[in-house]
Amino acid sequence: MPFLTDKKILLGITGSIAAYKVADWVRALRREGCQVTVVMTESACRFISPLTMAALSGNPVHTGMFTAEAPETIPHINLARDHDLLVIAPASAQTIGRLAHGLADNLLATIALASSVPVLVCPAMNSVMFQHPATQANLATIRSYGYRVVEPDCGKMACDEEGPGRLTEWEKARQAILTAIAPQNLGNENVLITAGPTREAFDPVRFLSNPSTGKMGYALAATAKQRGATVTLISGPTTFAPPPGVQCIQVSSAAEMQVEVMNCLKAATIIVKAAAVSDYRFAETQPHKVKKGQTALSLELVANPDILKELGKLKEKSPDFPLLVGFAAESRDHLEEGKRKLKEKNLDLIVINDIGGTETGFGTETNKVTILDSNGSQEDVPLLSKEETAHRIWDAVGRVLASKR
Ligand code: CTP
Repeated sequence: MPFLTDKKILLGITGSIAAYKVADWVRALRREGCQVTVVMTESACRFISPLTMAALSGNPVHTGMFTAEAPETIPHINLARDHDLLVIAPASAQTIGRLAHGLADNLLATIALASSVPVLVCPAMNSVMFQHPATQANLATIRSYGYRVVEPDCGKMACDEEGPGRLTEWEKARQAILTAIAPQNLGNENVLITAGPTREAFDPVRFLSNPSTGKMGYALAATAKQRGATVTLISGPTTFAPPPGVQCIQVSSAAEMQVEVMNCLKAATIIVKAAAVSDYRFAETQPHKVKKGQTALSLELVANPDILKELGKLKEKSPDFPLLVGFAAESRDHLEEGKRKLKEKNLDLIVINDIGGTETGFGTETNKVTILDSNGSQEDVPLLSKEETAHRIWDAVGRVLASKR
């Protein structure tokens, strides 16, 4: 089941011109299967209509402490109890002040006070207001209560000023929501992930590579971060920006990847080798562009080191070696090949990736994997987004870690 499906999100909207932007957030959350209930302050209702939010969320919108319709339900207590997460966006300076001082003078502030679920606060206001010591002190105070604050973006504001204070973009808010909801089973882990293809240069304009885009490895890095890990990503050439909070080391060839993996080995407690490493490189690399002219050209290839196999050998000699996870990209005999690689490379876990399907493997949005571990268990994961697949892999890693420690 997709990760956000059936999660209950309570969205508190306050008085800021950015209120209209969260209308889209509601649609995005519902597309991912969330149930969204909206609470609006009186000022928020001046910026955007509760009717709009009711239509988009598919639920009644709550605006007052004392509803004539159902006085017996004690809305602030029930709403505080019934959700997985409270997101306050946009959060005005006034509301942040209310939260910091534990005021309960409107429905939203009362819910926050009465709630024991995680609270995510997304400030949006004029940059001078945002930078004022009073606002900064209030933000520090709510952080000390355990509220998570998603920093606003910098840029031109509705009031024509420029600076920090613009409501964060949805993608950053989404990551923060996932982090608040994800199980924190990697909190003490230092995770090293390799991702993407490698490129083996022939001359300055040509190289040997493969169609890997790095999507699966980047999803693993983002989700490990959401689950509380410290994450280092060693990435071959891709078009993705590193996920927020992830240290990213860019490499090109297999040899460069091997050097960086070895450099990072000491700090790691888990290694996941999701990269599609080129098995061969050119015996010779030409310093200048090779000109055409010959009708045929034979090029000699030599084997690259198998980085994962080398790690497996080191693991044999070291009982404290990081948990080792490999991938197997297969177009046939998936299970046999996966089992062989699990054993030959001395892995704790292997993720067998079907690269033959139209919705699985290189460059696709989704994946369908089988996870095997060295204790003999097998999990056939259905077709899911790569992000969901990454969560399933971390669940499996969590089970192996629990059995080892
Ligand atoms: N791998 C590696 N170094 C290599 C080749 C592969 O570290 N030179 C790692 C990959 O990152 C992956 C695993 O080994 O985690 C399996 O890669 P895969 O391409 O499926 O298999 P190979 O071992 O290369 O074997 P084959 O090409 O024969 O299927």
